[in-house]
Amino acid sequence: MWRIARDSRTLDLNSSYAYILYARDFMNTCRVAVVDGETAGFVIGYARPEQPDCLFVWQVAVDERFRGLGLAARMLDSLVEDGVADGSIRMVETTITDDNAASQRLFASFAERWGGASVTTRPLFERDHFPLDGHDEHAPEPLYEIGPLKARS
Ligand SMILES: CC(C)(COP(=O)(O)OP(=O)(O)OC[C@H]1O[C@@H](n2cnc3c(N)ncnc32)[C@H](O)[C@@H]1OP(=O)(O)O)[C@@H](O)C(=O)NCCC(=O)NCCS
Repeated sequence: MWRIARDSRTLDLNSSYAYILYARDFMNTCRVAVVDGETAGFVIGYARPEQPDCLFVWQVAVDERFRGLGLAARMLDSLVEDGVADGSIRMVETTITDDNAASQRLFASFAERWGGASVTTRPLFERDHFPLDGHDEHAPEPLYEIGPLKARS
């Protein structure tokens, strides 16, 4: 996961320890895609403590060699499949920077598949929520709220 995040040159690179913690403590809300024994992509997320039926998807990435094959879509579908069926997941949230067309399309088509869920966006983390001292300049991260999710069409 750390290697794919690093090589994406798009994602914030967390410490390798952070990815290991996710794999240990949030494994039910994370996925890894494996192709011929090789890790090809990952998604990490968590159920929001204040709204447990809402899954926050933090990072999703697919190694460049495996993009365009539907892996990211499959990982997202797999994340919510059981929870939508038993009613424990009703919403997905994520943030997407305005320049990330691939991610916007990924989540738009996810919403279409899950019962034509609505996608609403609003400002969440603005530029000045991030450190402004030059070490971690960050584009705004608007929130995408997707739901209510219904069984896949
Ligand atoms: C975003 C990303 C995860 C997509 O992975 P992927 O496995 O190639 O995506 P999929 O093949 O599952 O495609 C899902 C949808 O997104 C669309 N899509 C994928 N890449 C796209 C691109 N570069 N431009 C526009 N649409 C794109 C696909 O056409 C598909 O749409 P459809 O269902 O309407 O056909 C991948 O491009 C990536 O790792 N990017 C770098 C990291 C990143 O930006 N992550 C998101 C922010 S956390």
